[in-house]
Amino acid sequence: KPLHFVTLVGSLRKGSINAAIARTLPELAPEGVTISALGSIGDIPHYNQDVQNQAFPKAVEEMAEQIRHSDGVIIVTPEFNYSIPGVLKNAIDWLSRVAPQPLAGKPVAIQTASPGPIGGARAQYQLRQSLVFLDCFVLNKPEVMIGQSMTKVDSESLQLTDEKTREFLTLQIASLANLARRVKA
Ligand code: FNR
Repeated sequence: KPLHFVTLVGSLRKGSINAAIARTLPELAPEGVTISALGSIGDIPHYNQDVQNQAFPKAVEEMAEQIRHSDGVIIVTPEFNYSIPGVLKNAIDWLSRVAPQPLAGKPVAIQTASPGPIGGARAQYQLRQSLVFLDCFVLNKPEVMIGQSMTKVDSESLQLTDEKTREFLTLQIASLANLARRVKA
């Protein structure tokens, strides 16, 4: 059975390396897997329970609906100050309040890219921690931490050009597909 995954990007800037990597994922997907992008987390307002009590923002409801209809989520994000970007946490906080909670029981893969040598490793464990509370099935392996990210994405075309990284990402998507099939069964 075919599977569909959605990508969630933790950086808002146009030239984002993480966004560039996320845009490349559809072409790296193995047979039987399709991938599309969720809306920008930049369209989601700051979390405020007073706002939630009135009505969920449209951007949150749409994202929740797309996640619900997917077989899994791939989060592609930079590390900010040894943690995840506030905008990404904000999106997760909103999504966690929607009922039924769209991320509950969802297979999730994490990818981080950073110009530093360890590719955002510290942010991964913080993100994983929040996803535990949301009752996601977070893929354990392979961990995708893309160091020296600026050497792997072409700065002009914003395409992921590094062949080894492309192969590794394909491997992770295939692992997420295995997990998704197990969760479904
Ligand atoms: C960073 N950066 C960064 N990098 C890292 O490896 N560890 C870190 O803790 C931080 N902290 C941090 C904080 C803030 C506020 C900014 C703006 C940046 C660098 C960051 O990884 C780099 O700018 C990435 O290229 C951002 O990702 P995108 O936008 O290219 O996807």
